[in-house]
Amino acid sequence: MTMQDIQKAVQLLKAGGLVAFPTETVYGLGADARNPQAVKRIFSAKERPYDHPLIVHIADSTQLNDWAREIPQAAYRLAQAFWPGPLTLILKKQTHVLDEVTGSQDTVGLRIPRHPIAQQLLSAFGDGVVAPSANKFTHISPTSAAHVEQELGASVDLILDGGDCEVGLESTIIDMSGNRPIILRPGMITAESIAQVLKEDVGFKQGETLSVRAPGMHHLHYAPETKTVLMQTQELSRFVTTLIPQDGQVALLMHSSTVLPHKQNVHIKKMPQEAAAYAHDLYHQLRLLDNQHFTRIVVEAVPSSAEWEAIRDRLTKASSK
Ligand code: TXA
Ligand code: MG
Repeated sequence: MTMQDIQKAVQLLKAGGLVAFPTETVYGLGADARNPQAVKRIFSAKERPYDHPLIVHIADSTQLNDWAREIPQAAYRLAQAFWPGPLTLILKKQTHVLDEVTGSQDTVGLRIPRHPIAQQLLSAFGDGVVAPSANKFTHISPTSAAHVEQELGASVDLILDGGDCEVGLESTIIDMSGNRPIILRPGMITAESIAQVLKEDVGFKQGETLSVRAPGMHHLHYAPETKTVLMQTQELSRFVTTLIPQDGQVALLMHSSTVLPHKQNVHIKKMPQEAAAYAHDLYHQLRLLDNQHFTRIVVEAVPSSAEWEAIRDRLTKASSK
């Protein structure tokens, strides 16, 4: 990646173009947050409903006031502790922020990513860039430039290749616009670590209580095309034993060292046993398995501890089709 690539990306953004770029979480599909036509292009490229708001990405905290108002002290503390990094703050918006960006809500999502290419791009652009994950609506988020090409190809003006994404799952989203902090989407920055910084409990909004606008609540979000099911470790052995050839080729995504009976039509993919490494690999592996046309993808359920929270969330969504 050269300075020329960044300059070209900036010119494209200024001209209303779409630039896909790497962040530490997943690849984003970027557009000038102040250009309504450019923002609209994002929705058509992704085939995403217009009422799903976008996150505005900025280079540094001095730009926070350009986009948000009435920012609580607690939000500054989170920004201080976790930015640049995989955390999105929902704050009351400044009046100029486009309805296309906020889904006509009174709040805006803001994030400072820490991937060096994202940082260079945002600094050189000098203003807010909206960037949803660079995939078609309901598909798995891309964690490499090749995934973006596969998902959006011709509808992107430029893809900046920054290699594999370090985190591999989307940012933690926390709503700081109300009376108490509420996590709208779990991520690798856990509720626990946020509570430690804030010295207060954080709420969790989930499932039924959320409006359609809330993150990832569409029932097909983050799902592979292949039917995907979650299975407890202790059920795996019986499942494999009772499979018959007519069940077709089944993929099994495992992280534990449980030994299973050998079966011709069961393809085991071993995942890391540690949460961060697992998160890093998850979307890449699901995408690979999805492309191989198995009759089913069976995913071994992951531990119930805090550091697996975001992974459990995405696996539940991947298997809810
Ligand atoms: O890690 C990430 O957050 C990635 C990278 C590219 O930064 N971006 C990402 O964007 O995941 P997207 O659009 O795929 O998911 C953002 C979610 C959406 O589901 C949206 O509903 C929610 O953030 N969101 C954005 N603004 C919001 C707001 N004002 N209130 C509530 N939810 C909001
Ligand atoms: Mg997304």
